[in-house]
Amino acid sequence: MTQVFSTYEIIDKKKRAQDLSTEEIKWFIDGYLKKTIPDYQMSAFLMAVYFQGMSVTELAALTDSMLYSGKTINFTDPTVVDKHSTGGIGDKASFILAPIAAAAGVKIPMVAGRSLGFTGGTIDKIEAIKGFKTQMPLDEFKNMVTKRGLVLIGQTEEIAPADKLIYALRDVTATIDSIPLITASIMSKKLAEGARGIVMDIKVGHGAFMKKIKDARALAKSIIATAKRFDRKCTAIISDMNQPLGFAVGNSLEIIESIETLKGRGPADLELLSVELAGQMIYLGGIAKTPAEGIKKAQAVLKSGKALEKFREMIKNQGGDERVIGNYDLLPLAKVKTDVLSEKSGYVQSFENQAIGQYLNEIGGGRKVKTDKIDFGVGFYFHKKVGDPVKKGEKLLTIYHNENQKAQIQDLKKIFTKEIIKVSAKKVKALKVIIEKIGK
Ligand code: URA
Repeated sequence: MTQVFSTYEIIDKKKRAQDLSTEEIKWFIDGYLKKTIPDYQMSAFLMAVYFQGMSVTELAALTDSMLYSGKTINFTDPTVVDKHSTGGIGDKASFILAPIAAAAGVKIPMVAGRSLGFTGGTIDKIEAIKGFKTQMPLDEFKNMVTKRGLVLIGQTEEIAPADKLIYALRDVTATIDSIPLITASIMSKKLAEGARGIVMDIKVGHGAFMKKIKDARALAKSIIATAKRFDRKCTAIISDMNQPLGFAVGNSLEIIESIETLKGRGPADLELLSVELAGQMIYLGGIAKTPAEGIKKAQAVLKSGKALEKFREMIKNQGGDERVIGNYDLLPLAKVKTDVLSEKSGYVQSFENQAIGQYLNEIGGGRKVKTDKIDFGVGFYFHKKVGDPVKKGEKLLTIYHNENQKAQIQDLKKIFTKEIIKVSAKKVKALKVIIEKIGK
């Protein structure tokens, strides 16, 4: 017989920093899935976890309850490896690293997310390509991984459904940036999709959920420990999120920048990070003897054009219009462009990166409420990185928008020059995209 607990007492215990038992946590998650526990009580529970954290045992119970809330796949093939990012601004690295690693022989069962808070979502971005199917039955997903080597889907009802529900609730209750909640969310999905190895990109900075390096390290350790408990290989890269990754922010613009990078014409930071993460995947999959050898293989694959072909193949396999690779007009990019010019000469000092994500949502590129439809066309294309010299009157960024948004864009122009992009008279050091590597 299943034990019955009190929802109120579980929330109250967590609020008072008392440890919950494995049975209590499982009962709570099951109740939420069955809808016997309503959103408001789950929200209170999440906020209590946000403030009080979780012990190692509690985190294991939460992860397992979310993982086994749906079906799980178990690949025995050691070359099945995936990557996951904690989310950022302009983070399109998956579209580059996944085809690179797949072209080198890694099999990738990628289950990615939609936008969360101020960060963009891989699934929203790929849906800018007409026809691209991001949902499929689990059997089809598994077959495609084995036969084609690369599949990218969104979370389904079958994979970690508890995370799907809790993720959407965290998005609107200010409970995203919690180490145990992020660990359980990411690992329930990654463990359910069956990858033998997982490469984590932990973002740190203004435009990330982890603002401080010490929290990014703690999150990396928490995820690696969870992977170890399930006998999965895992490495983490801590990467900078104090400025957008690459130059493009916004769904269609990011797809174009990804394709350009696969053609060898991408921004240096985006290429460097993608090649590093792909190299780690190649190494974890046993296709290279060391991470350095994995990175070399990744560079060679990118240069040969094989990664671009893999990306084209993935679009075709999943019903998308692969002609987009040679014709960007097939993307629904907004037609009106407004340049934002620098008001002074100097050096780019900083970006309010989180605000960039929030303003993208404001102009329709992301969601403000769960039911919002995304405008794939709007976005920001930055012309500068931190440390770059800039002259008065030179372009800082170009805003892509719709005709009926002209008044809103005039306000945004002022916000960008006054609050978001700071220009200093003194020289500023460029930022390194890769900050630290944790694990092998
Ligand atoms: N990505 C996820 O899948 N979950 C989180 O909680 C944060 C980023």
